[in-house]
Amino acid sequence: MALTLWLSLAFKVLGASSEVRQFFLKQASGQDCQTLQLGESWISHSVLDCQLKCFGRYSENCQAVVYNSQTGICRPGSIAFGPIEKVTTSIPETGSSDKLYYVRQPIPPCNTSNNFSLYDVYGTSPCLYLSTSKANNYNDARTLCSQMNSRLFVANTMAKFSLFWYTSETHMNEDTFVGLQDIDAEGNFVWENGEPLSPEQSQYVWLPSEPNDDYGDEDCVDVRHADWPDEFGFNDGQCNETRHYVCER
Ligand SMILES: *[C@@H]1O[C@H](CO)[C@@H](O)[C@H](O)[C@H]1NC(C)=O
Ligand SMILES: *[C@@H]1O[C@H](CO)[C@@H](O)[C@H](O)[C@H]1NC(C)=O
Ligand SMILES: *[C@@H]1O[C@H](CO)[C@@H](O)[C@H](O)[C@H]1NC(C)=O
Repeated sequence: MALTLWLSLAFKVLGASSEVRQFFLKQASGQDCQTLQLGESWISHSVLDCQLKCFGRYSENCQAVVYNSQTGICRPGSIAFGPIEKVTTSIPETGSSDKLYYVRQPIPPCNTSNNFSLYDVYGTSPCLYLSTSKANNYNDARTLCSQMNSRLFVANTMAKFSLFWYTSETHMNEDTFVGLQDIDAEGNFVWENGEPLSPEQSQYVWLPSEPNDDYGDEDCVDVRHADWPDEFGFNDGQCNETRHYVCER
């Protein structure tokens, strides 16, 4: 595939504020960086949509996107710094509503016993078990993961959130529990690793009008098959529903 040098982007990154530039150069290991546009840009309604389409079209060649939230313009990209650094972070370019999102990170080892596999998409590489049958309820899903030395999937980055949605749709195609609940205190959502859902995460994980604690007893979070492929996001549902689940090691 022919790549055209993405000069305008490289210029914008290097012209960003010193704080941003330092961070960028640190990630780039002090080497000269080249940013390449993979093909034509398009309009996306969100940065997630921009990332998903970039991966859909270019798979692992998509290592970055530039997204402009004002115009919706999404540019699929690839980053080369000599040896390619795989990182997942976003770098706001101050003074411009264009933002550069890196979408790669190092691939960790995966212990594949109990049918766990490495899923290397959307710039993240977790070691996952995708259920082949449904758990009776959220606690049952927790126990099943724990019996395999793992825990329910913690989608605490944008990349892991995208991956969860993608794997649920393409591998299970059913409602699926994620490791997030507010059982102890209504409205205080906590990941299975004990981290609270951050305000930043709250801005992108929920479906429109969720979480709504419908009937006052929706404390366990899932993605809903009924919403695919038009919308993706989380729903707070009942903990006692039978659902598929994803374990992470
Ligand atoms: C793992 O995969 C094998 C072969 O597909 C299957 O027989 C077995 O039930 C699976 N185990 C689990 C825990 O899903
Ligand atoms: C992989 O996981 C299994 C199940 O938890 C465990 O018994 C085994 O020791 C692990 N293997 C390695 C190499 O860590
Ligand atoms: C879950 O609990 C709710 C409220 O207690 C109840 O209405 C519903 O039937 C239960 N669902 C299942 C699958 O047990």
